[in-house]
Amino acid sequence: MRIHPIDKITGTVRLPGDKSISHRAVMLTSIAEGRSIITNFSTSADCTATLECFRHMGVEITREGNTLTVSGVGKRGLRKPGGPLFCDNSGTTMRLMAGILAFQDFESVLTGDESLSRRPMSRIVDPLRQMGARIETSDGHAPMTILGTDLNGCRIEPEIASAQIKSAILLAGLGAKYVTTVIERTPTRDHTERMLEWLGVDMDESDEAGGRAMSVNGDCRLMARNIDVPSDISSAMFFIVAAACLPGSRMVLTGVGMNSSRTAALDVLGRCGVSIEISEVREQSNEPVADLTVTGGIRSPESRIVIDRSIVPNLIDEIPVLAILGTRLDCGLEFRDASELRVKESDRIAAVVTNLRSMGADVEEFDDGFLVRRSELRGAELQCFGDHRIAMSFAVAGMIADGDTFLKGAECVAVSFPDFFDKMSGVSGQRFSA
Ligand code: S3P
Repeated sequence: MRIHPIDKITGTVRLPGDKSISHRAVMLTSIAEGRSIITNFSTSADCTATLECFRHMGVEITREGNTLTVSGVGKRGLRKPGGPLFCDNSGTTMRLMAGILAFQDFESVLTGDESLSRRPMSRIVDPLRQMGARIETSDGHAPMTILGTDLNGCRIEPEIASAQIKSAILLAGLGAKYVTTVIERTPTRDHTERMLEWLGVDMDESDEAGGRAMSVNGDCRLMARNIDVPSDISSAMFFIVAAACLPGSRMVLTGVGMNSSRTAALDVLGRCGVSIEISEVREQSNEPVADLTVTGGIRSPESRIVIDRSIVPNLIDEIPVLAILGTRLDCGLEFRDASELRVKESDRIAAVVTNLRSMGADVEEFDDGFLVRRSELRGAELQCFGDHRIAMSFAVAGMIADGDTFLKGAECVAVSFPDFFDKMSGVSGQRFSA
């Protein structure tokens, strides 16, 4: 894909549904009792993988555009799939589904593509085994074989701050004996908890010394209910950063998810003096949403912004695109305590550092993050490393650089946002050519 430099982006767009929420919507309405309609379902390949997995377990799901009708079968109504459940590139599909499969009365095998098969699974397998789950992996990786069995409620404090781990445990807790509690020191996205509540599950949440405890009781029932998915704030961030870096831009993004466990990147932009007006704040299926108006221009802070442990989980997916913003800040932008980036769809620390250096940026790599100093970017030939967020972040970098950029393997944007280039063309008035 060839990316041209662009002056500004302008327009009003409604972006596709949030990926994290869409995964949970299919999973939870599938094991709810009755029929639910899901609107603004994510267009991502990842969420299609989840949908196909539940179809393979006998759930009737019809799809018309971005609207799904799911005929839920109840917590124990899934059927043994005819073959392996293919999770494609999607960590959320594999890790969350493992929690649900752990208490079914059949055996299942979860597989994924090459990238997913390299990603660590012990982080969910260990706590699920603590609950009694019988799971075999290939040395901590997919393929994973799950022999459904009776589980016992447990109290678990995961070492890694991860919504996927928390959610896998809570979902297993839906079918476990008694109560399952997850304790979190650093908050992570809480879409699972919110959606369980929306479907009638009594979630118990309380503050514990230095953290927060979330509990579910295994005797709960999930009742069907329609879900209108907010637009994806992680996808919105590519438009927000592009607009911020291109003076003269004005973008309106409607119906964007504003869950506070996902908005830390907006706070960083606020600290850079970017004007982001938040209007029409409302609730949509137990999630906050709002319309965002972004005006181009950055007022560079006088000292370096350092992003560390306390907020990394709340902007983990936005770090690659924030790195591009970092090239526009006088004192640069530093990321620490972010070694989780090394086990995402690609090693995102290495990918960002490699590509920024190819564009002439001054960037320093650490084991757990990187530091970007103010730099002029020049167009270059770049790899996407098979990673959708790397592809979209460097498309933005190409738009604000001097000269054309060539992105190899940019089709991987389909993993989360198939229409990314079309939507970006629409607001920039320029075509990106393959
Ligand atoms: C996700 C949680 C995050 C995030 C991923 C989606 C989720 O991963 O990076 O894109 O939907 O729960 P971790 O929980 O592993 O940090």
